[in-house]
Amino acid sequence: MFAVTRQFILMSPSVITVETKEDVSLSLVINQISSGISLQGRILVPGDKSISHRALMLGALAQGETKIQGLLLGEDPRSTASCFQAMGAKISPLNSEMVTVTGIGLGNLLEPIDILNAGNSGTTLRLMLGILASHPARFFTVTGDSSLRVRPMSRVVKPLQQMEAQIWGRKDNSLAPLAIQGKVLKPIHYHSPIASAQVKSCILLAGLMTDGKTTVTEPAISRDHSERMLRAFGADLEVDPDSKSVTVTGGKSLHGQNVIVPGDISSAAFWLVAGAIVPNSELVIENVGVNPTRTGVLEALEMMGADIELQNQREVAGEPVADLRVRTSKLKSCTISGDIIPRLIDEIPILAVAAVFAEGTTIIKDAEELRVKESDRIAVMAQQLTKMGAKVTELPDGMEITGGTPLTGSDVDSHTDHRIAMSLAIAALNAKGTTTVNRAEAASISYPDFTNTLQKIIVS
Ligand code: S3P
Repeated sequence: MFAVTRQFILMSPSVITVETKEDVSLSLVINQISSGISLQGRILVPGDKSISHRALMLGALAQGETKIQGLLLGEDPRSTASCFQAMGAKISPLNSEMVTVTGIGLGNLLEPIDILNAGNSGTTLRLMLGILASHPARFFTVTGDSSLRVRPMSRVVKPLQQMEAQIWGRKDNSLAPLAIQGKVLKPIHYHSPIASAQVKSCILLAGLMTDGKTTVTEPAISRDHSERMLRAFGADLEVDPDSKSVTVTGGKSLHGQNVIVPGDISSAAFWLVAGAIVPNSELVIENVGVNPTRTGVLEALEMMGADIELQNQREVAGEPVADLRVRTSKLKSCTISGDIIPRLIDEIPILAVAAVFAEGTTIIKDAEELRVKESDRIAVMAQQLTKMGAKVTELPDGMEITGGTPLTGSDVDSHTDHRIAMSLAIAALNAKGTTTVNRAEAASISYPDFTNTLQKIIVS
């Protein structure tokens, strides 16, 4: 049995308590008081996770210094930083929002003397594989936590093998731990069967050190942060949006840059939905990245009738940024499918919460990728929301959610998935009674300050 060792009672009557259990797991207890709450205020979300990983990696591969402002200080970028430190990059402590990376130069990574651990981070492992496989005459071993060790790596191992990479692992070289013998690779034109920025970026990173032209063609456009940042660091890159192809010509060195990381729209999405579903709320989320390859969530919420306004739109260091204002809205159902899916893939758990409070039946399909994220997000969201009284049917590639049934607080579990933990906490804001989100510490993967921010914006 767990003993409660720490508890913060935040307001009276209490709305949120945070309990730390003996095994260091953390429960977020949300009491919806009978008079109801509203959400008010201005919020800054942490730095974009995808951009943070890429800034650390390209900084490590570049010549000279890279200064990163607004880096996400979550667990996932820490995994990336520690892997590249183990291969010779100098990275200042990840304790301030300004981090300096002193790069080692393309092709100069040192052979690490121990196993590289990507923790919970698929982006770290998959992108890094392209870099390691193309570093000749070094041997690497890579692993991750229990979630990452069951996530499919063949989607990057197979194209890398077409480039003649040498990679070994369990289940036909598809699961971490993996062993990599770096070597000179051969350029390919890869037609990816899935729209995945991790696959695209892995191949492009392998192409950086490969003579000739390496091209990736995707079935639908995925996030393009790698392309934007590779260009800024000096890589020779051509993008053809019509054929959804990107080509890198290998051999050009990278040079350290100043990177400004915008707020993560995937983190902002929790507040967008919270502001829309909690009565009498108005929130402004400042400085959010609104790169068009990531704004599917805004389009989906607009289809659902959410009152969201983009304010102060601007471009910061090569990425579009805006402040997002959301007000309580009467939501209606919609269908989310097709090419929009890769542009909102990480926001589907919180969009499922929005659907629970929308009139009618929302259908999410073509999202089978959700089954191989940090958890099986289709199964876990369906189970956990059903526990709270929602009407959710699992589909092989998505969910069917009939909104309008009031939720009741219950004991739910994140399955150690950060986005599930935060989505359930937002659902709890509109559930009558007490919800306990178990293993809520998972939020620190992408949003260490989530609970504090939630505390600050609740008006009871
Ligand atoms: C990411 C790409 C997405 C996303 C992940 C981050 C990235 O994965 O789900 O959280 O930074 O490239 P896929 O590209 O595999 O869909």
